[in-house]
Amino acid sequence: MPETVFIMDHPLIKHKLSLIRDKNTGSKEFREMVGEIAMLMCYEATRDLPLQEVEIETPVGVAKTQVISGKKLAFVPILRAGIGMVDGVLRLVPAAKVGHIGLYRDPQSLKPVDYYCKLPGDIEEREVIVLDPMLATGGSAVEAINLIKSKGVKNIKFMCIIAAPEGLKALTEAHPDVQIYCAAKDERLNDNGYILPGLGDAGDRLFGTK
Ligand code: PRP
Ligand code: URA
Repeated sequence: MPETVFIMDHPLIKHKLSLIRDKNTGSKEFREMVGEIAMLMCYEATRDLPLQEVEIETPVGVAKTQVISGKKLAFVPILRAGIGMVDGVLRLVPAAKVGHIGLYRDPQSLKPVDYYCKLPGDIEEREVIVLDPMLATGGSAVEAINLIKSKGVKNIKFMCIIAAPEGLKALTEAHPDVQIYCAAKDERLNDNGYILPGLGDAGDRLFGTK
């Protein structure tokens, strides 16, 4: 496994992931748990944020303490399914800005088709965390990160819930500088480009559109 890939080992993430894999889990619970997993993963993905020393006056004295310094964050969900992760990460970093990239996979070619892009005006000054629950062939993640890099962004992370080996390979080859955080690495893709065992179609399960 390349050293840019981080697979979560927290028991709470593993437990919630088991629940969302279950085909009997309905949209309400699925949505809630995707949000919770995203929040827990965000805690790990922000572990290396730089800190700076400050002095804070408490009611009884002065504390030498630390606050986050340096670049600010932006989250960029890939529509649709990435939307399911936004509330969770914003609970940890409420001041972050949010951009959106719309991509869907052509069902025959499995290639990503762009349909929307709206990013914060100062995106090139921010550290960007791209959100999408599923990394399957990797086409969508590679394309989204191409777009973000074309705006001048230097510091990018990718956060997904389930990754296929094929997607991890494609993304690390195309963007070796991007750290990838995932809750699980699954076995492989099936003939339709779905992750096995996976959790099915993340967008449909989040929004109840099947
Ligand atoms: C899903 C998923 C990813 C993409 C992953 O989106 O949310 O964006 O597939 O597949 P890839 O790694 O092979 O590109 P989908 O295209 O189904 O669109 P949706 O979120 O609008 O349903
Ligand atoms: N997109 C999904 O939603 N699920 C998969 O398994 C693969 C791509």
